[in-house]
Amino acid sequence: MEKDNHLTLHGTDLIDLCNIYGTPLFVFDEVSLVENFERFRRVFENSYPKTIVCYSIKTNNNLVICRILSEKGAFAEVSSELDLYTALKAGFSGAKIIYDGPFKPKEALRKALEEKILLVNVESFKEMEELNGVAQEMGLEQAIGLRVNSFKPPGFFKSLNLKNLFEESGYCYPSCRFGFSLEEIPKAIDYLKKMKNLRLECLMTHPYTKALNVLIPLLKQVNERSGVELKYLNIGGGFDPGVSSSTSDLLLMQDFIRRRLHLRSLLDERKGTPSIESVGKSIADKIKQNLSNLREPTLITEPGRFIVGPSGMLLLRVDQTKIAGGYKWILVDGGTNIIPVIHHRRKILMANKATAPNIELVNVVGPLLYPKDFVAIKVFLPQVETDDIIAISDCGAYSLSSSTQFLYPRPAAVLVSPKGGVKVIREKETFEDVLRKDKLS
Ligand SMILES: Cc1ncc(COP(=O)(O)O)c(C=O)c1O
Repeated sequence: MEKDNHLTLHGTDLIDLCNIYGTPLFVFDEVSLVENFERFRRVFENSYPKTIVCYSIKTNNNLVICRILSEKGAFAEVSSELDLYTALKAGFSGAKIIYDGPFKPKEALRKALEEKILLVNVESFKEMEELNGVAQEMGLEQAIGLRVNSFKPPGFFKSLNLKNLFEESGYCYPSCRFGFSLEEIPKAIDYLKKMKNLRLECLMTHPYTKALNVLIPLLKQVNERSGVELKYLNIGGGFDPGVSSSTSDLLLMQDFIRRRLHLRSLLDERKGTPSIESVGKSIADKIKQNLSNLREPTLITEPGRFIVGPSGMLLLRVDQTKIAGGYKWILVDGGTNIIPVIHHRRKILMANKATAPNIELVNVVGPLLYPKDFVAIKVFLPQVETDDIIAISDCGAYSLSSSTQFLYPRPAAVLVSPKGGVKVIREKETFEDVLRKDKLS
């Protein structure tokens, strides 16, 4: 919707918001946030009713965002003691919190157990022992999951049989370090028998895409090996909202060249994100068809980006435009300091020239002294001038929670409610805020 050729959200003029709160400014849409959560939950309620939806707190840890999701009935997935603190403060009870992540210090485990959290997904033998020790000291029995690593080296490398070369050259697949490898699982199950204060209730992996192929056979294996019928199957996150695929500046450059040469765009090919409805249905079908005679476990999902990504937009003010190296560069007042990941599917609009036709191919860049501080590469926009306001869609995920104070204090965030009411959900930081914990002498 537009007013005076300005973009509006539920009747609120976005340019008015910039004039009141300054730029950069994050604007969250409460309607979209709640709709995304409810759509996700409805998909699973319809196809696999025994599903728990755990919002992944790290995606956006703003207290108001978390509180809204808690009030709508979400559970929470936390991956640090800070996440745990945030979730509790936002209103999630311990019974609705699960704890993931490779690094869980003893104090964090103690706090989690004090809060009687639903599950701790354990990632190593050391963590198992430590958690058992903490539970023993506290006289508790804690329900746990084992995180399984579903990682396999990419087939291309395997077919070249370069294993030895990789070992010698120290080639590394970073994702192989999470959780227990498939080979370690039988040992982990046996090891657990010694851990008198832990109760195995769950198998977990992330992302969901490979989860069931790995977890369902293991569910049977656990049943055969220890007689336990597991209560939960946790397939992690990885649910793509279809708008937030990350990319690198190099890929975007290559894509640009391909387009110039009239070659197929490889980025466009990646656009075929399946709808959450079809993802949910295929997950449900797969579980039901492959369980044999085991009872149906409760399914745990850990969406983050799907819920919060599309609900946030970033408004940036144009400082200047410049021609260099044959390109038009648009310099704006926020960049990778506040949206660290470049996405190629983010829609970019002019908030003060909403209906103006796109006529120029430009690069939008942030204020950092860093050549890769891109907001958008090779996008078509209307004629851009100083003081125009650019609106970047799909900035709700990994922005507020992963923005930095590098060179600039972090900006404000507001939430626009269904009827257009505006609430500040994060105040703009001052220079003093940035320096608050520093000592002068
Ligand atoms: C263990 C775990 N769960 C859930 C998520 C959320 O994933 P997404 O936002 O892609 O659904 C992540 C993100 O990396 C994760 O590492």
